[in-house]
Amino acid sequence: MRLEDLPTPQVVIDRRRLVANMDRVQQLASAAGMQLRPHAKTHKSPIVAKWQLDRGASGICCAKVGEAEVFVGAGFDSVRLPYPVHPSNAPRLLALMDYAALSIIVDHLEVAHGWSEAMRAAGRTLDVLVKVDVGFHRCGIDPKGDPIGFIRAIASMPGLRLRGLLSHAGHGYQASSEEQLCAVARQEVETLIDIRDRAAASGIALDEISVGATPTLRFSVRQLGITELRPGNYVYFDRTQVALGAATFDDCALTVLATVVSKPAKDRMVLDSGSKTLTNDQARGITRMPGFGAVLDANGRVDETLTIERLSEEHATVRVDGLTTLEPGDRVRIVPNHACVVSNLVDVVRLVEGDHVVDTLPITARGRIT
Ligand SMILES: Cc1ncc(COP(=O)(O)O)c(C=O)c1O
Repeated sequence: MRLEDLPTPQVVIDRRRLVANMDRVQQLASAAGMQLRPHAKTHKSPIVAKWQLDRGASGICCAKVGEAEVFVGAGFDSVRLPYPVHPSNAPRLLALMDYAALSIIVDHLEVAHGWSEAMRAAGRTLDVLVKVDVGFHRCGIDPKGDPIGFIRAIASMPGLRLRGLLSHAGHGYQASSEEQLCAVARQEVETLIDIRDRAAASGIALDEISVGATPTLRFSVRQLGITELRPGNYVYFDRTQVALGAATFDDCALTVLATVVSKPAKDRMVLDSGSKTLTNDQARGITRMPGFGAVLDANGRVDETLTIERLSEEHATVRVDGLTTLEPGDRVRIVPNHACVVSNLVDVVRLVEGDHVVDTLPITARGRIT
């Protein structure tokens, strides 16, 4: 089957780029002596996750229990949830623990008590990592508060086995320079190592130091003390990662194939990939990238004359600066701003080599948001 035989929009994965991304990051992690545990939220596909394990990944991450149910059901036996899962989900987690080694994060004493109680009652032990807020200010304990007091409390809770510390430097996405991004990665490790050493001095060994975000990955592999990397986006990359210097457009494995459906004026045309395909996410990053994705020309280069200015649910309104030969019926590929949310919107993605569709991958965990 060729891409031209399929209706649009389609989410398309370039097989060679996907393989190159998986290989490159696995090699980076292995060379640094760190485990790679990719976050499966990006692809939500057990098939892609299996390719990551085949290359040496130590396991996978899922955000939600619903995702974990899909992956454990598909045979994955080591799943980490770096998400503040609430103990009301304990029956679901206990069911999965019969088949897989699971771990979660904790950053709140009452929540941790809830997990401890659920595990104690079931006669089980759940691996936990303390989530540390390294500057993103989303989840995590405050490293300037009393991290050792918190760690001591978790270490003493029955039914929980404290494995280590975990962080996500999501504020790296706001960096305005390469130096800032590097500093985010350095400070992240310094914060975690400081807590690890203080915990050790008070008699608590923390074996795992887990960090994970695609923008900071290239700096994290140069740091000492990290045991695990949990990037997700690297498998496909996207326009935001290009803007952050983490990838080039030639690395971006996921594109959206769209058709020109209207050209009401010389300076305006409409594609059939609206917010239900490209999502409303803006690109973030060091280099400013306006609009809702980069439209590629026939040679796969970014067509700088085309800006996706506006999205409705089913329409992408494109501003044309200069002349374009594109007419209704013509097709283009778009590098989206944020690949992870795009793949969650489709039932299948098309794996391609050039224009040849070599496979159709079901996005088995799509929509598994509970
Ligand atoms: C806790 C956690 N770990 C790892 C990741 C992976 O980060 P990235 O998408 O930058 O690869 C995320 C992404 O949101 C996350 O929230």
